[in-house]
Amino acid sequence: MFSRPRRNRQSAAIRGLATETHLSVQHLVFPLFVLDGANIRSEIHSLPGIYRLSADNLLHEIESCMNLGLTNFIVFPAVADALKDQTATYSYSPENFYLRVAREVKKRFPECCLISDVAMDPYSSDGHDGLVRKGEIVNDETLPILARMSVAQAEAGFDMLGPSDMMDGRVGYIRQALDDQGFTKTGILAYTAKYASAFYGPFRDALDSAPKSGDKKTYQMNPANKREALIEAGLDAAEGADMLMVKPALHYLDVIHLLKENYQQPIAAYHVSGECAMLRAACNNGWLDFERAMPETLLSIRRAGADVILTYFAKEFAQRFPGGI
Ligand code: PBG
Repeated sequence: MFSRPRRNRQSAAIRGLATETHLSVQHLVFPLFVLDGANIRSEIHSLPGIYRLSADNLLHEIESCMNLGLTNFIVFPAVADALKDQTATYSYSPENFYLRVAREVKKRFPECCLISDVAMDPYSSDGHDGLVRKGEIVNDETLPILARMSVAQAEAGFDMLGPSDMMDGRVGYIRQALDDQGFTKTGILAYTAKYASAFYGPFRDALDSAPKSGDKKTYQMNPANKREALIEAGLDAAEGADMLMVKPALHYLDVIHLLKENYQQPIAAYHVSGECAMLRAACNNGWLDFERAMPETLLSIRRAGADVILTYFAKEFAQRFPGGI
């Protein structure tokens, strides 16, 4: 036996030399939920450990993450039902608390990377990412709404915008609107291959944003499809997306790998609420060891090809592994 793979595993030092995949806090983005008001910190029952925060608490949370070297945040607004309507007008209203909070965050922490969510669902009385006409989610009439929301977010100071709506042509349409208004530096993190997944449940609980009727299958991708992700990636790349995202992450590691092999843009993966909730539940039951299962999970997403990982475990990773793994 000349070849003995175990030689490279015999000590921590040698295993260190032979390690193929590294993950550190600079690769992570921490999703945060913000709501209007003061002194609010309300836990999401289906995602223990994650809270909806009012602006004051959000600023504290960002400060404590920044102290851990975690500098990247994607923020989602929990909007009161009374402010929702069919055309999501609150999304670009000058009164919008989400835009106000973004201004405060970028003023206090100019060095952080602040990412938005572009889609109608947090603001829509129909709970869909696009405009609903006679029960149908219409594509082209949704685009101007998304563009208006995007320009308002760029004005508020978001560094990158995250179109999560899956309307056709939206990346190019948004890029054009941003450039026309002079926001040439605002980036686009495109939700390129976003699947119609069961794993968004806790997120929809957090925002109370579940569709009022029907499902999202006419715009989000079919979980059975992989080659179709290449069509989406080709379009988003051609339309000027700065990063391409796959969502969910764990159940779509093959798609992450596929995009990484075929595109030069950084590939992001969204380790979504349901995927985090599953692990948390098993650990809280004593069935799995969080200290080992959490880093192994994030490493698997990275090994598949993700440059960037959005995960609700970002802060806990930063606390445990300040030097990375
Ligand atoms: C909606 C949006 C969703 C998520 C991010 N943006 C949910 C959906 O499409 O219904 C899910 C994120 C998660 O589950 O963590 N625009």
